[in-house]
Amino acid sequence: MQKYPPFLSSFPKMAHGGDYNPEQWLESVPDILDQDIRLMRLSGCNTFSVGIFSWARYEPREGEFSFEWMDRILDRLAAADVNVLLATPSAAMPAWMRQKYPEISRVNRDGVRELQPGRMDHCFSSRVFREKVGDINRRLAERYRTHPAVKMWHISNEYQSLCHCEQCVEAFRAWLRTKYGTLENLNRAWWTSFWGQSFQDWGEINPRNRALDGSKLDWKRFQTDQIVDFLKHEIAALREGGATQPATTNMMSLWPTVNFQRLADTVDVIADDCYPVWKQNGRDEQTAASISFVHDLRRSMKGGRPWVLMESCPSVPQWHNPPKLKRPGMARMEMMQAVAHGSDGVLYFQWRKGRGGHEKYHGAVVDHVGHEHTRVFRDVSEIGNTLAKLDDLVGTTTPAEVAFVYDWEVRWALETSAGVLKDSAVEDDAYTETVKAHYFPYWSMGVPVDVLESRAEFSGYRLLVAPRLYLLLPGVADALKTFVENGGTLVLSAYCGQVNESNLCFTGGWPGDGLRELCGIWVEETDRLLPEDQQNLTFADPRFPALQGEWSAGPLCEILHAEGAEVLATYGAQFYAGTPALTRNAFGKGEVWYLATDVDPDFLLGLHRELKNRLKLRQTTGTDLPPGVGATWRTDGESEWVFLQNFGTDSVEISLDSRPHRDVESGETVSSPLHLKPVETRILQRKA
Ligand code: GLA
Ligand code: ZN
Repeated sequence: MQKYPPFLSSFPKMAHGGDYNPEQWLESVPDILDQDIRLMRLSGCNTFSVGIFSWARYEPREGEFSFEWMDRILDRLAAADVNVLLATPSAAMPAWMRQKYPEISRVNRDGVRELQPGRMDHCFSSRVFREKVGDINRRLAERYRTHPAVKMWHISNEYQSLCHCEQCVEAFRAWLRTKYGTLENLNRAWWTSFWGQSFQDWGEINPRNRALDGSKLDWKRFQTDQIVDFLKHEIAALREGGATQPATTNMMSLWPTVNFQRLADTVDVIADDCYPVWKQNGRDEQTAASISFVHDLRRSMKGGRPWVLMESCPSVPQWHNPPKLKRPGMARMEMMQAVAHGSDGVLYFQWRKGRGGHEKYHGAVVDHVGHEHTRVFRDVSEIGNTLAKLDDLVGTTTPAEVAFVYDWEVRWALETSAGVLKDSAVEDDAYTETVKAHYFPYWSMGVPVDVLESRAEFSGYRLLVAPRLYLLLPGVADALKTFVENGGTLVLSAYCGQVNESNLCFTGGWPGDGLRELCGIWVEETDRLLPEDQQNLTFADPRFPALQGEWSAGPLCEILHAEGAEVLATYGAQFYAGTPALTRNAFGKGEVWYLATDVDPDFLLGLHRELKNRLKLRQTTGTDLPPGVGATWRTDGESEWVFLQNFGTDSVEISLDSRPHRDVESGETVSSPLHLKPVETRILQRKA
């Protein structure tokens, strides 16, 4: 098992810290750096993102620069052995820039330029903005490329803005030219004869087109590509300025409009921001599993390489509705969960609460009271103590035998297709919910999972779960076939293989592009039930006792025919009663399970437990876990560090396997069964 280099190359420890904006205090509290450094030491904090929103201070008037104030901050932090992730300041343009160059402010879908000052509201196509960002980044690189504090570049902040300005529209047309070559190709790919939308001139293309699903999908892809291009531009400017430190950018969970998987190759380390809303004071296994899913996706973005939790809140973000405080123990649960799933650090937004502005009540390590005698500060210090005992974990990863497919391409295709899922897809993101519903059983069984985009390498896995794989990019169907042929087990579910990369329906029967043959079925129709409709999945096959019975099914129900596949369950009601609802098809050395309907979560749990048993998939503790417990491990090939977390409502007993387990924090040997209270995390070390 490979151990990855530390996320900060010269610092083989867990990072602990956060966003630090001392410039808000320099004038009013001249010794703020001394105060903060004392508190950083006390809380075991060692790493901070600095300068994220500092452009207005670096360049108060166009072409007039001031960096001495940042020199002082960085020098002080270096002297205190604090690592700095120095930001490029593009997330917030200075006021003069907004006023002088209105073209930088983005234009909304209705064509209105959004001029109200804020942040992260620039256009990624604006030529003048690119120039200005290139200039400031080069200057920062020239000045700080060898600064001992600066260990990494934090590129911008939460890239996301969407713009419909003329420069974006022009860039979109150029992007389409590169992609399609000729208008003829584009007209064909977008099916433009529909509603008479065909184009004779590139200039006629308008991204606001409501008629063409292919256009809508390409516009979303284009916007992510613009962000990737901008990210590359920012990093290139740093390199031109001579900077060699690695670069990262903070992503935002499963934000709908940016395909973060496309950004992965451009950064050296994956970073994510995470602000879960815990229900029941943290006794909330659904939220826990849902957060683990995102963490697993981050760990998978660079093939298992540890990522870093760049922002999290030690208390409560003011924008939570309502901003209910984190209950005792929850900050530790949340932060250790990130580490359990591959983060090599815990960073908070923010270090110190500012006195003014929109985030003056956003939770922080240091509150307005200004000292360390607070509950939150104590929580953070405890997390610091724990992290300090995890040096050996840095660079370790989690070997998964199971991969899930989660792809923004699929999500966008569903969002832009008026079909049985569109309404709910837009409002509740039904795609993501479905994938998470299948993920939950693995979380609750303590089986590690990687989360991959659809065009990934599947060959190392034994089980591949690709729920609702609505869109098939070129090559995906073949890759699935190869995976199964070579002995893999594949799980697919309803609304699979409906459209190609242009959002055009496959002809010749669903699931398309050859999956019909792979699955041994033909999906003829798709039903979307109303809440008052009854449907169920009836499982009678005696070989699977745990799945026997009638399980509520819907709202999405596919009506299908077995064409060689074995029928394991049928529908119980409505005009398609008795037809297949779950099938299994042997193909090559492997098999494909196809679930034709949404179904009761308990059935999903039973189904995936069945697969886990059949494939003898490794579980963290070797056996099933009590409800509510999250369990995973990281390894360097010699040791395994096991994380056990109780997100349930009751105290539980967990039986450990026969290896000796040592509690990493107390150093004591732990005997089985281990008692775990609600909202408790234990980290155990054992031999691999
Ligand atoms: C985002 C931003 C931060 C801060 C937090 C507040 O993640 O990146 O600057 O505004 O939200 O939760
Ligand atoms: Zn624009």
